[in-house]
Amino acid sequence: MRGLVASCALAALLLAVALADHHHHHSSAQSNEEEDSCHRLSAPNADFAVVLYKSLNAKTAAGNNIFFSPLGISTALSLLSTGARGETHSQLFSSLGYSTLNQTQVNEAYKHLFHMLGESQENQKLDVGNAAAVRSGFSPLEQFLNDIKQYYSGEIFQVDFTKPEEAAAEINKHIASKTNDKIKDMVKDLDPEMAMVLINYVYFRGQWEKPFDGNRTRKEEFHVDGSTTVEVDMMRRTGRYNFYRDDGNHATILQLPYKGNTSMMIVFPDEDKMNQVEAVISKDQLRRWHDSFFRTNVNLGMPKFSISAEASLDDTLKESGITDAFGDKADFSGMSNEVPLKVSKVGSLNMTSLFCPLHGLKCDIGSCVLVPPTGVSPGGAKRG
Ligand SMILES: *[C@@H]1O[C@H](CO)[C@@H](O)[C@H](O)[C@H]1NC(C)=O
Ligand SMILES: *[C@@H]1O[C@H](CO)[C@@H](O)[C@H](O)[C@H]1NC(C)=O
Ligand SMILES: *[C@@H]1O[C@H](CO)[C@@H](O)[C@H](O)[C@H]1NC(C)=O
Ligand SMILES: *[C@@H]1O[C@H](CO)[C@@H](O)[C@H](O)[C@H]1NC(C)=O
Repeated sequence: MRGLVASCALAALLLAVALADHHHHHSSAQSNEEEDSCHRLSAPNADFAVVLYKSLNAKTAAGNNIFFSPLGISTALSLLSTGARGETHSQLFSSLGYSTLNQTQVNEAYKHLFHMLGESQENQKLDVGNAAAVRSGFSPLEQFLNDIKQYYSGEIFQVDFTKPEEAAAEINKHIASKTNDKIKDMVKDLDPEMAMVLINYVYFRGQWEKPFDGNRTRKEEFHVDGSTTVEVDMMRRTGRYNFYRDDGNHATILQLPYKGNTSMMIVFPDEDKMNQVEAVISKDQLRRWHDSFFRTNVNLGMPKFSISAEASLDDTLKESGITDAFGDKADFSGMSNEVPLKVSKVGSLNMTSLFCPLHGLKCDIGSCVLVPPTGVSPGGAKRG
């Protein structure tokens, strides 16, 4: 089998996180209710993930990797929308695919989702957390802070943005303490006028159900695209896997299970067919592939890799229709009625790292939304 093309595999991996709630099985009535509630989010979140992927892909130079957490970004934007009103809110909800829902339903669904994800499984750890770093002296509306705490399990702490370096260090220290020091340098270059930073982080540790045998790892060729080949440490394992060959779409799909009830879906495009495969990626296509799996013997080659990336999503989100939030038309009157606020940056800010070794996969991702006041002086966010 040919080497897989990394960017596609990573996108699929993270989509799997967005779709993960389909695969949880609970028996109690309480959990069924939770599952229904989370289920409301899984379809729009998966669609939004594909939109983000295609938009980032169009902006990424050929041969470069794309790596982001769709769930993290949907969560950060939902957190933001709790404080948005009017057209600003409509644009956020419409782009996220939540138009048929109201904010309370979305908040409840996230609350249940975090609860389900937080149920630790043996050999597996997935933590999704939220936080808001608020400018000392600036008082967001009580309702907004309560919603962050109640629905998003968000922690709220104050920082002094007038000293941007210290503020960044303090935010980074907070995130590091929540992620076992795995996400260390999430923010930098903060604006002294910042009113608030909304943060989401995803921290995942999974162990392969069937680890690779290190003795079989060899230097092998990995085909980045039709004309680029690199030498990698290729891990090998022969065994039975869920597998599907899609001739029509020039792809081979394989499921690599973790211990517990989650798995990674890997899409191997045929030689030089990456663009065609990317063009057909959608929530429904992923589901069709998932539902077509059959078990068969596979001689699997998987490169040992680790990756970290930094991405600004501003342009991508503006293209998806979220425009008012970034400008002077922004309406965040649900956060504050003292000062007008707008979003200055939405990023996956140097916080992504993924490591794929013999025994499992580690993935740490942070996303954040930076909210400064519009056109007010550095002291302007303070109460009169
Ligand atoms: C949201 O929708 C639900 C279900 O339709 C409804 O019960 C609830 O009152 C609505 N909440 C708000 C704040 O509109
Ligand atoms: C790898 O090789 C070493 C040394 O030959 C051996 O002791 C070990 O059992 C092998 N590992 C596996 C998983 O076969
Ligand atoms: C995995 O799912 C099965 C049902 O499909 C369930 O019986 C089992 O308890 C689950 N395991 C874990 C670790 O959640
Ligand atoms: C990103 O973080 C890593 C370690 O956390 C650091 O080594 C690297 O220099 C950072 N990159 C940027 C562009 O800040």
